[in-house]
Amino acid sequence: MNDLDRNPSGPPPVHVPVLLREVLRHLELQPGAVVVDGTVGAGGHSQEILKQIGPEGTLIGLDRDPMMLDIARSRLNASNCHLKQASYVQLREILAELRIDAVDRILLDLGLSSDQLADDARGFSFRATGSLDMRFDTSQGEPAWQLLEQISQSDLAWVLDHYGEEPQARKVARTIVDFRKSHPIRTVSDLLDAVALAMPGRMERNAPRHPATRVFQALRIAVNQELVHVEQALREVLHPCLKQNGILAIIGFHSLENRLVKHTFRATDRWQLLTTKPVVASIAEQRINPRSRTAKLRVVKRL
Ligand SMILES: C[S@@+](CC[C@H](N)C(=O)[O-])C[C@H]1O[C@@H](n2cnc3c(N)ncnc32)[C@H](O)[C@@H]1O
Repeated sequence: MNDLDRNPSGPPPVHVPVLLREVLRHLELQPGAVVVDGTVGAGGHSQEILKQIGPEGTLIGLDRDPMMLDIARSRLNASNCHLKQASYVQLREILAELRIDAVDRILLDLGLSSDQLADDARGFSFRATGSLDMRFDTSQGEPAWQLLEQISQSDLAWVLDHYGEEPQARKVARTIVDFRKSHPIRTVSDLLDAVALAMPGRMERNAPRHPATRVFQALRIAVNQELVHVEQALREVLHPCLKQNGILAIIGFHSLENRLVKHTFRATDRWQLLTTKPVVASIAEQRINPRSRTAKLRVVKRL
């Protein structure tokens, strides 16, 4: 889908921004501030940020996924809002293009949006019926089905263990590699059939968490090199892009990204931690928006 295909008055986004009130409180936005939303998604956080920085402020919204940018564009239609298809690891180049040296605030809300999960054709959800793609940007890299076609058993076990923390990583990898000899794995349901063979008991039980959750998370992280982007941004991009005393807020959804964030923010010569404990969603928010249950917000000031 491109800009012209999307009807701006089309269906509203599915995604509900998590920890919205808490993010706004910690960002301490002032009229005129220059703010980066590095994972703009459906623009839920950005809509409120725009209101607080006013017409004299500037918002730069980035997303790797053109579909999400189309949704954001239909909601954030303001001349002081610049939306770009890019990873937040490209932030320095984006700011240089806009002739901005450094910004006042940066927000990263990691992972994927409910709109991506809800899109059958993307293959992010085990409820999807379509092709097993899982790329944020379908014009780059290889889809998950192609990765599964080529990856060795030991590399697949590594991916499932390191990116999914799947306790049965080696067994699941062996079963998938055996399965693909007779059945090409092209769709979500092909992958679910393979996972069911590896953990038959778990697939039948009505567990609160789908037994294939960790397998799907691992493949999505591998296909999009998500932790590579998080790690690179934390190591070399976010600090130089923020003004001194600028504020960085990051929401993580699983222990892998949270560990990277926590470790980086320990560097007390570069960052002052503003959240001694990660901020989590209230019970009321968790009830309304189940996605918020695993969200952890950490906020730092750049020294
Ligand atoms: C949790 S959603 C953000 C939701 C957004 N805060 C809102 O209120 O609608 C995460 C978004 O980040 C995007 N994304 C993931 N990795 C990215 C990266 N490295 N750079 C930019 N965007 C990324 C995904 O495509 C997705 O749209």
